[in-house]
Amino acid sequence: MKTEKGNKWENSQVTIISHCTLQTLEDAARALRDGSLVVFPTETVYGLGADASNEVAVRRIYEVKGRPLDHPVIVHVGDLAEIDYWISDIPEYAVTLAREFWPGSMTLVLPRSEEARDFITGGQASVGIRIPAHPLALQLLREFHKQGGKGVAAPSANRFGEVSPTSSSAAEEEIGKYLSHGDLILDGGPSVVGIESTVIDCRGTEPRILRPGAITKEMIEEAIGLQVTEPQQDIRVSGALENHYAPRARVRVGKDVVLGAGLIAPSTEETPKGMIRLASPNSIDEYARVFYSALREGDHLGLKEIVVIPPSGDGLATAIGDRIEKARTKN
Ligand code: TXA
Ligand code: MG
Repeated sequence: MKTEKGNKWENSQVTIISHCTLQTLEDAARALRDGSLVVFPTETVYGLGADASNEVAVRRIYEVKGRPLDHPVIVHVGDLAEIDYWISDIPEYAVTLAREFWPGSMTLVLPRSEEARDFITGGQASVGIRIPAHPLALQLLREFHKQGGKGVAAPSANRFGEVSPTSSSAAEEEIGKYLSHGDLILDGGPSVVGIESTVIDCRGTEPRILRPGAITKEMIEEAIGLQVTEPQQDIRVSGALENHYAPRARVRVGKDVVLGAGLIAPSTEETPKGMIRLASPNSIDEYARVFYSALREGDHLGLKEIVVIPPSGDGLATAIGDRIEKARTKN
């Protein structure tokens, strides 16, 4: 049952805070310090946060998500000075990337320090780090730091294999019933980027993109003057597995007319008679922003099939193409 108390909603397990103030962010940071889980907005997708130094709390992330234990989680910090605690080394080009694109939708994979324990890295010798750009996320991370915290571990706030949430209500729908009393969901409006961060392996002489995102290959190459290697799958990246980011509906790519199916397509494409338009983005940015919520809407409507016409172009369109492919390969 849901009850409303001022700007707080409570269902039996979790409190949802719809208007975050400095006070609520301080309280949320305190909750993290006490070992609770906090769902928080980022500009990419909503994250399911826990104190990255607290093994019991991080284990709960895996339970709530239903995620295998050997998958690494990203450590989120509020300031560049805080990454030293988590890493043992950083190449010059990664420093340039950090200065250029943080806060922002980029995760750097770097050699880990002893503080980045196996329960964060999935047993790997590297750690993924990100400074998100959403103002509420930054404020939460800074409050957490003020209270002595070192970093917040946060995967996307969805059940394993499902579509990442881009709103607090989508996060609640995904994992609300698995959260406990004392856990929080912070609402920060719809995520403005809409797909997960670019994950970049920075352990070699040049960077390798493990997961494409809004910080594109072209942007990275321009920033550092080095060639960037395309995605390869020899590191364990859960988002790179098949059967990921997928809705219940079957996803079909192309221009087929399927009666009763949903349609996600650029606004320049007409909706054929008998199809249900789920999104008509006017730009590639808008495509990324609405894609996951449109898949979710298709599931809400109980559609069996969703036809997707991808955006054309490179850069962010490549990342959207990657997510479309992952949604498609479920079936
Ligand atoms: O935009 C995002 O990155 C969101 C927000 C909440 O920050 N987070 C997110 O986390 O998408 P998650 O766990 O759903 O996906 C993180 C990806 C996974 O594919 C994971 O395997 C990879 O980053 N990753 C994390 N640490 C890694 C490491 N040490 N080596 C290789 N891949 C790593
Ligand atoms: Mg994820």
